[in-house]
Amino acid sequence: MSDTPDPGLAPRSNRALVLGLVGGLVGAAALGTWFVVHEGGRVRGAATSGDSTAAPLVRGEQVYGLCANCHGRGGGGQLGRAPALLGSPWLDPEPLTRLVLHGFSGPDPSLFREKMVGAPALSDRDVAALVSFVGHRFAGRDDVVPADVVGRIRAATAGRTRAWTVPELRALVGEDGS
Ligand code: HEC
Repeated sequence: MSDTPDPGLAPRSNRALVLGLVGGLVGAAALGTWFVVHEGGRVRGAATSGDSTAAPLVRGEQVYGLCANCHGRGGGGQLGRAPALLGSPWLDPEPLTRLVLHGFSGPDPSLFREKMVGAPALSDRDVAALVSFVGHRFAGRDDVVPADVVGRIRAATAGRTRAWTVPELRALVGEDGS
């Protein structure tokens, strides 16, 4: 009888250990589930409404690979090849979307060996992601452009084949063309 407390204590502390382990596993599983649901919801939300920043910006950076050949990864441009995007006045969603869809013809084509041609085959979502990324990276903007904004601009400029000119873009952003 004198050793009664010992057999009693050992199982209890084992039980406590087991309960602690099980509790920890349940907690980890719950956290994992929350993470998956949370992440899944975020990505789905971004795909449909464009109201989340991370996924479009990641995609936008991938699409920017098309532009980086000429404009450089850091947007600094390359002498004789393409101008810098940093400091460009055409990085707002409206002018930039047009420029990406149809190209750009600046005041002095002799400055560059290459031409800025449009990429109309890009989907609305990819253009929106690209325009968002360029705005974030090179113009300090923090908005995410929804794909339907690109769709609207694409529809409004359907049939256009010429590149945009400076006077046209100026008129668009509200300065007087010159
Ligand atoms: C083949 C090289 C090339 C590629 C690829 C290219 N660009 Fe250009 N881009 C140019 C050239 C050249 C100009 C200047 C054209 C001119 O002044 O006539 C230009 C001009 C621009 C301008 C106007 C800059 C300013 O302020 O004068 C923007 C904005 C721009 N590009 C964005 C992009 C984006 C975004 C992409 C990717 C979808 C892209 N470009 C892909 C060559 C390129």
